[in-house]
Amino acid sequence: MTGTAEVPGQAASVVPGSELQGRSAATTEILTVSIDLDLEPRRGESEAAASSGLGAGAAGDAAASTSGRAGAAGLDGAQAAAAATAARLARHPAIARAAALLTGGQVVAIPTETVYGLAANALSSEAVGRVYAAKNRPPDNPLIIHVSSLAMLAALYPPGWALPPIYTQLLAERWPGPLTVLLPRSPRVPDAVTCGLPTMAVRMPAHPVALALIAACGFPLAAPSANSSGRPSPTLARHVAADLGGGAIPLILDGGPCSCGVESTVLDGLRSPPAILRPGGVTREELVGYPGLEGLQVYRKDFTDAALEAAPTTPGMKYRHYSPTAPVILLEPSGACSPAPAAATANGASGSSGSSSSSSSSGSSGSAEDLAARLRRATEALLVEMAATRASGRQGALAPSSGPTEAAPAAVAAPAAAAPQGAGPVAGGKVAAAGAPAGSVALDPPALELASQLAGGGPIGVLRTSLAGAAPGLVHRRRAAAVPAAGAAAGLGDICNGGSDGQAAAAGGPKGSAVGGDDGVIEYVLGHVSRPADVAAELFAGLRALDEAGCAVILVEGVADEGAGVAVMNRLRKAASRVVHV
Ligand code: TXA
Ligand code: MG
Repeated sequence: MTGTAEVPGQAASVVPGSELQGRSAATTEILTVSIDLDLEPRRGESEAAASSGLGAGAAGDAAASTSGRAGAAGLDGAQAAAAATAARLARHPAIARAAALLTGGQVVAIPTETVYGLAANALSSEAVGRVYAAKNRPPDNPLIIHVSSLAMLAALYPPGWALPPIYTQLLAERWPGPLTVLLPRSPRVPDAVTCGLPTMAVRMPAHPVALALIAACGFPLAAPSANSSGRPSPTLARHVAADLGGGAIPLILDGGPCSCGVESTVLDGLRSPPAILRPGGVTREELVGYPGLEGLQVYRKDFTDAALEAAPTTPGMKYRHYSPTAPVILLEPSGACSPAPAAATANGASGSSGSSSSSSSSGSSGSAEDLAARLRRATEALLVEMAATRASGRQGALAPSSGPTEAAPAAVAAPAAAAPQGAGPVAGGKVAAAGAPAGSVALDPPALELASQLAGGGPIGVLRTSLAGAAPGLVHRRRAAAVPAAGAAAGLGDICNGGSDGQAAAAGGPKGSAVGGDDGVIEYVLGHVSRPADVAAELFAGLRALDEAGCAVILVEGVADEGAGVAVMNRLRKAASRVVHV
């Protein structure tokens, strides 16, 4: 069955003027699918979707006969709504093109609500092999399997299989959505997907294009994020084109910006106690209320495990992740999760080891406004130091692959296989707001040293979470004075929003100081610390925008390590070459 339901309405359209008009990046085709983002089903559509095979029966006749084994035979409201929208997309020519490629064993980049994925038939070793090749992904890092219905999941198992009870209510209520769960490996899923593990990771994406495509294929899709391995995940189709265009993959489906912006939460409900292996679009707080998840732990926040740490199966532990070309300095709010004594991390290397629990306090100390003020002062202090360093001409060459700084604390080295090119070590700078005179900030010598080391060549990028009322996207900031006195809090000067798609900087002038303003600073507003989900939505786009603008270094203001901020800080620590606690 291919999900060719006759349903009313057509909520999608290709780019006007052509039946199947695409933009070509060399030999990679980009097809746009515009979506009516109102996911409310029209009257009668839920029933039509359910009976069409896009909902509980999307896996076809075989799956339909197993419908119910997964523990939720019917469609709940969210699943019905998503299925209805997907049904409206089922006959879209771009989706038909993508389904044909996937059926033929090719790979296609697809939008999901979290990030863009690079999809292939999850039941074909050969197809999945093309995903690893296109991304240059390490062969021992398993993929997530994407389904469009619980019946499609059930169809992967022998008759009589039942969903583990811990997931029954959870998946009925949280799918489709940014939640991946570990399940016992299906005998139908090849080693190429699971890398030989006894478990497999599965999710049902909420993006209607992804749902419609999976249903149209009639088989599940294995899909990692559609970036080159190690790069920030893509949240726009053009991010995918930047990494994998030019013929590396045949087709990118453009379904607009990803609303969530960080990847799915990876939940291991098979272990005891259950654990979040990768924080993501669904928070711990949203999960703990479900039966069996009361004692839910978060990996690296509530516990660490040496075996997990060494394995690629703990998402993102072993490999360099989320890194733009420019070195990233993370300003991390103190009081947030950072296991002592090695508080900072370098590209995923753990700051603690062993299997013992290493709980730490979470959350910001003080209000969001206090935190924002601390971040602003720290950013200004670092910018002042960098400006002064530039003015004096004494900066050292930017050396992203330089060894540990003299001030580095006892950082745990990344495993040899993960030795990140360009990943600097940890610096132990401490930006101390406490006790500092109003309007100024004291920087420990290591942080000052850090700033001066990294201030050479190209604009300085800043990802901001501390500016209240600023719209997300690139800003062009002019500072009042060329080089404010060291330690003084610089005024913010004029801020003009340059748009959130990362193109304003490129359009605004040549790379370098002309783009960045008088002091060569380019800023990108992610959102405000008080709204970490907004920050998550802009995070990867911001990293990529500043990288594209040719920034020599990127300062990133963090958020509190709680709620939606946990996923943000998880990604930022992995992207960071240096962490400075503020
Ligand atoms: O939101 C997402 O999850 C996106 C979209 C495209 O769905 N996908 C994504 O895939 O982030 P990827 O490959 O970038 O990250 C998947 C993570 C990997 O770090 C992998 O180690 C982990 O999931 N994983 C896959 N199978 C696993 C398993 N059986 N046990 C533990 N971890 C697993
Ligand atoms: Mg990824």
